[in-house]
Amino acid sequence: MNVETREKLYEGKAKIVYATDQPGVIIQYFKDDATAFNALKRGTIVGKGVVNNRMSAALFERLARAGVPTHYLGTLSDREMLCRRLQIIKIEAIVRNIVAGSLAKRTGLEEGTPIKAPVVELYYKSDPLGDPMLNDDHVRMLKLATPAELAWIKRMALKINGVLRPHLKKRGLLLVDFKLEFGRSGKKLYLGDEISPDTCRLWDVTTREKLDKDRFRRDLGGIEEAYQEVYRRLVGEQRA
Ligand code: TMP
Repeated sequence: MNVETREKLYEGKAKIVYATDQPGVIIQYFKDDATAFNALKRGTIVGKGVVNNRMSAALFERLARAGVPTHYLGTLSDREMLCRRLQIIKIEAIVRNIVAGSLAKRTGLEEGTPIKAPVVELYYKSDPLGDPMLNDDHVRMLKLATPAELAWIKRMALKINGVLRPHLKKRGLLLVDFKLEFGRSGKKLYLGDEISPDTCRLWDVTTREKLDKDRFRRDLGGIEEAYQEVYRRLVGEQRA
């Protein structure tokens, strides 16, 4: 792809966004930097950027085939993804299939408890506030999205779960929960950001071993190996 990198638009905790010579097209550069607990904990996961870039690309392609509009336009290199430029909606949508993390804490249910019908949660994407949970009324009050946009986001989050869950299961991974971000381009909405072990909880189907960023959050060790294992299952075989 013939695209020239231009100025840095934004640097986040795990990615850098660059403008390009094409209007409406940006590059996401995936770093190895890892943070947790609103950046109170910092570290490096060697090779994470490559895993997250390649895994996100593979899953965005799978979702596009299922009719989910995504910002993914192409892969430029191991760490660079070409994307449609979006005006990001400041809502993080979480879908949960198995109780873990903050849901275990909030409800007292044991981590690992299955959830019959997936749970969708909304959080306010705000670093200074530490991403607090929101309901539909808060979204309306804060004008983060129109009611029609929010309905679409929730519907699409469940559709994405319906596509990714069996896709990952076939590759030996339980999709415990995951986070999605959406954005606007013109009059349309698209799935943005990334889908990776940073933004999903993934457990081995048989051993239930954690193969995601919880190994970093909870100091479980074997972090790089877990990311490489996910890569091997989702991307490696596809390229071989
Ligand atoms: P939680 O149980 O901590 O609320 O996390 C739910 C899911 O969201 C989990 O798959 C990890 C992902 N997540 C992010 O992508 N970014 C975040 O900042 C947090 C807290 C969670």
